[in-house]
Formats: sequence, C-alpha cells, structure tokens
Amino acid sequence: MSEAIESVLNETRKFPPPSDFAAQANISSEEQYQQMWTRAKEDPAGFWGDMAANLDWFKKWDTVLDGAMPNTKWFVGGKINLSYNCLDRHLLGPNKNKAAIIWEGEPGDTRVLRYQDLHREVCKFANVLKKLGVQTGDRVTLYMPMIPELAIAMLACTRIGAIHSIIFGGFSAEAVADRNNDAQAKLIVTADAGWRRGKEVFLKSAVDASLEKSPSVQKVVVVRRTGSPVEMVPDRDYWWHDLMKDVSAECDPVQLDAEHPLFILYTSGSTGKPKGVLHTTAGYLLGATMTSKWVFDLKDEDTYWCTADIGWVTGHSYVVYGPLANGATTVMYEGAPNWPDEGRFWELIEKYRVSIFYTAPTAIRAFVKWGDDWPNRHDLSSLRLLGTVGEPINPEAWMWYHKIIGQERCPIVDTWWQTETGGIMISPLPGITPTKPGSCTRPLPGVVPDIVTKDGQTVPGTNGGLLVMKQPWPSMLRTLYGDHDRFVQTYFSEIPGAYFAGDGARRDEDGYYWVMGRVDDVLNVAGHRLSTMEVESALVSHPRVAEAAVVGFPHDLKGEGICCFVSLKGLDGDDALKKELIAHVRKQIGALATPDQIRFAAALPKTRSGKIMRRLLRDIAAGREKTQDTTTLEDYNVLAKLRESDE
Ligand code: PRX
Repeated sequence: MSEAIESVLNETRKFPPPSDFAAQANISSEEQYQQMWTRAKEDPAGFWGDMAANLDWFKKWDTVLDGAMPNTKWFVGGKINLSYNCLDRHLLGPNKNKAAIIWEGEPGDTRVLRYQDLHREVCKFANVLKKLGVQTGDRVTLYMPMIPELAIAMLACTRIGAIHSIIFGGFSAEAVADRNNDAQAKLIVTADAGWRRGKEVFLKSAVDASLEKSPSVQKVVVVRRTGSPVEMVPDRDYWWHDLMKDVSAECDPVQLDAEHPLFILYTSGSTGKPKGVLHTTAGYLLGATMTSKWVFDLKDEDTYWCTADIGWVTGHSYVVYGPLANGATTVMYEGAPNWPDEGRFWELIEKYRVSIFYTAPTAIRAFVKWGDDWPNRHDLSSLRLLGTVGEPINPEAWMWYHKIIGQERCPIVDTWWQTETGGIMISPLPGITPTKPGSCTRPLPGVVPDIVTKDGQTVPGTNGGLLVMKQPWPSMLRTLYGDHDRFVQTYFSEIPGAYFAGDGARRDEDGYYWVMGRVDDVLNVAGHRLSTMEVESALVSHPRVAEAAVVGFPHDLKGEGICCFVSLKGLDGDDALKKELIAHVRKQIGALATPDQIRFAAALPKTRSGKIMRRLLRDIAAGREKTQDTTTLEDYNVLAKLRESDE
C-alpha cells in the first residue's frame, strides 16, 4: 500500500442542479445541508434521535448512541419491526392501494403488488416460516431469482425476527454451502430456476448439491418460476404455492430490540473466506430510509427503479427496504438489460414512466458500447434523477449518462458506499450539489470521512490517501458473523480510532471526494467485490495447480478483469487445461468469478523474502511497459516466460 496515491484524473467540468429540481427537492438549500451536517457531527445523538422520528416504534429508545467505534449500539431500549415500517404503517392511509412493487419478468410477464397485497403475502409467508420451525434469531438463506417472492421472503423474515442471508443467484453450489455453514442456516428459500438472457439459471439443483455439504439446513421452500422439473425430497422440500394455500394472512410483527440482528450479507475481503457482514434492525433501517429520501429525493408520485440484484447490498437497501420504508413504488426486473434486445431498460422506463433510475457504471459502459440508438428510440422524458453505484465512474461514461439518458435535464447522484456501511455515505444531494463527472462529491449528514496516511494523519491539500470514517453512523455493520476479532482487525486496526474502508481517495479544493478504487487485494469486477485470494484458493484446489496469483487488469466493460498466473505441477499446460481451470473456478465460486485470462508460468515472480510481486504481475496483465526495478526477481526467466504466454 503506497503512502501517497497518485491521481491522474484532471476533471474540471461542473454541473449545477437544474433550478426546477432544486426548487422541489427534499433538501433544497446549501444552508440546510450545512446545518444538518454540522449538527450531526457535533451532536450525533441529537441529530439521529430527531431523524428516528421518521420510523414507527413500538417503544421509544432510552439511549440513541451507546459506546464508541468499533462497538457501538444505536437506539438502545427501543422496540421496532422492519416489516411494520415497510408495510403496516402504509396501510393506514392512501398508500394502502398504491403499487409497492411493480415487477417484470424477463419473458415479459408482469405483477403489481399493492402495499396491501405485499402485506398479505408477507404475513402469510411469515406464518409459513413459523410453521416450518423458524424462530426469532434463526438464520434463513435466500437463493432466488429477482422475483417478488424474494422481497416477500425478506420481509417475512424481518417480521418474525429471523435473520436472512441472501446469496446472489450467480454463486455456485459450493459458495451456497459455505455460506449456509457459516451462518448455520436452518432453512433455505429458492426457486426451480430464474430467467437470464433467455436461458434458465437453475437454482434448486445447486441447492440440492449444496445441502450435501451444509447439514444445518433442514427445510427447503421452492418457488415455481420457470416450470422446469426439479427433484423434491420428501419432508425436506416444499413448494411455496402449496405452503401458502392454507396459512393465515394475519401475523403480528414481533417487537424486536433496535439492535436485533437483521441480516447477514457475505462479501469478499482481502484475506480468508467471505465475511458475513451483520446489520441490525433500527440503525440499518434508519440509514436506508433517510438516504433514500435525501439522495433519491423520493416523493409520493415517483416510480423508482434500482437495477441492482437483491443478492447485493444495493438491492437490499435500495430495491426493497429504503423505498418501501418511504412508501414509494419500486420497480423490480428479473432479467438482463440486453434481452430480447439492448433496448430493454429504456423500454421499461418508457412503459412504467420511471422517474428515478439507479444503475452501475459497468452497465453504463455496456450501454455506451451498444450505441445511442437504443435509448433514442424510447421516450425517456419521465426521468428526473439518475444514480450510479459500485465503482468509480469514468467521466466519459458519466457524460454519456448525463446527455443521452438524462437529456441534460436530470441530476446524477454518484453514490459511494459499501456492504459494510449499509447505506449511501458520500453522494451529491440532487437539489443542491453541483456535480463533477467522476466524483461522489460530499458526505451526507452523519458521515464524517477523512483522507489519511498509513499512520492516520490527515493528508494535506488535495493529495490521495486512505478513505476512513471518523465517526460512527447508525447503519454501519456491527460485526462479522461469528468472528468479532476479524471485524475489529479488518476495519479498525489499520487506522486507530477510525473505520477503514479499504478504498483510496482524494479530496479536491471544493472538499469533493474522488474515490480511486481499492487499496487491498480486492477486485471490483462489474461492480462486484471479489477477493484475489478466493480465486487463488479456487485455482489451487485443482489437482494440477501448484501455485496461483490473481490480479486485476483494466477491462472496458467490467471495469476490472481477472487475470490468473498459474504454475503447474508437472507437465506444461495447454488450452484445454486453461478451459478446465476456468470451469473449475466457476464451479467453486460462480460465474461472476470467471477468469478472463489464465497464464501459465514455470514459477511466480517473488521477492527475496518470498512475497509474490503483485505489482509486476498487474503490469504484465495490463500489458503495460515494465516500469519498476525487477532486480529482486528471483528468476529473470520467469518474467520472460510470463510475457511470452501473452494471449
Ligand atoms: O471500492 C468501492 C466501490 O465498491 C466498494 C464496495 O463494494 P460493495 O460492498 O460490493 O458495495 C457496492 C455497492 C454499495 C467500495 O469500497 N464503490 C462503490 N460505490 C462507489 C465505489 N467506488 C467509487 N465510486 C462509487 N460511487
């Protein structure tokens, strides 16, 4: 990790919020922002105590903030239920018959669930869970396509205080088994399959394979989505539609402690197995609720669409919980953006008159590549606000988004946050913040970031350094499930007294933040965090592999591609073995970890002390000229051989 991180970006364009947007915005003046931000910094308990009035409580808390980082508790003594806040409270007024979820499947089938409908389905499924033996505090794995039943299952868990752990449908059976085991999940909800680019992604068969290795799971609930045949094991596997037939639609929400565990979401770190990020009820919900209101400027009449899969944190906070807590209408789409053609997203925006659209830079780069003609064929005049998340956005992709999708009318919110932060941390407020392409701009109220050196000193001027948070916030993770030491070690030991995000960033003369990417061994592939270590372990588990080093390299569409340097046991490798290794990684982790390049080498370049020279490998992977001194290379031939193996 280098002390000073150099920035090569020199972006000077600036876009003030359109005046008509500013006039109606939820946060509508710079003074209001300054006042909120300063209050939250100086009196966090007072500020967040006031904000918590946006939620409905069964019992008010005694203490807003208890303890200091890393061990903080929020709203201690308070009693609350998340599903009550996302559903029941909206049934008391005109939102009762409002669309909560507008869903479209990839084949074009649609469903609209009004708040009343969603409430009924959630209560019924909560009763199903109880009937199958799930109790408050039990872990439930959800491994499902983007169908309404996923949102229903999540909310049903929160209704009874079961802790959900959602696994993205692109993960393999092995990954599902690991996560089931780590969480000691009792029940799993899945589907026969889901649709993706016209093909079925089989989920139930992966669950069957995973259960051979994760015996804690006693029951499986299966949604029939595509109608593909599946094997049902008696007394273990149940169809969703059978179970839902004869349960009551009445289910009182359990009055849970504010700090009751809400969900676990596994994410990659630089070392070891995936980390089970644990969020708790009230703080997380408050973060998701307030940031949705501030950043997406949610209004009663909005039709809001976040394209993220619910298997990632963006889907948790901004497809389901944030919008529903605000009584908004959230659009959910099952499939790919280029099915049946590259105009699918724009067709959906036109069809549902979407007003707020939130997607990822990797998707925007694909749209740019597919050409302006696709969006230009559709009426996008309903849009009023655009957002991005997941990785730094290239200024040119930002400009395209601004011009072609936003038609120079819509502010863009570039939102920086993480699985661990629960909600958006640094982002423009669309009514007041002039935006700069590529910058996530300024911290939200309650967020106190800094850019520091390795010893925790604030970096002077506009130089790059490590991004940290100096003050706790309600929606921060509370621990890593079952491993509190690793939690403290990962986030709070690098920079004493602060939360270390793992990102490098700089702050410009206007106080705007520019995130420059990860400084640890974590890849950001198409906006998904992957640890180089996990891919290396997957490779080394193949009998022919002696040693592997995995690095990222710049990739036009995915942001970062995966390059694997592999030294073999015995004979030289060939193309067939490359294919086999790629398939092996996919089997171990899932399609999202598919290597882009496999390069064989007699040995990996190491320093005299035996550390793999990752910077050198990164340069080779990117095809850059070798710039640094390689005199410490153990074997110069290794380098020559690696270069030769260039595909
Ligand atoms: O490196 C940052 C990048 O994504 C990481 C968090 O990944 P994950 O936990 O999977 O959550 C993604 C969705 C919240 C961060 O450490 N990242 C996320 N948003 C941005 C970003 N980098 C730059 N700009 C962003 N807006």
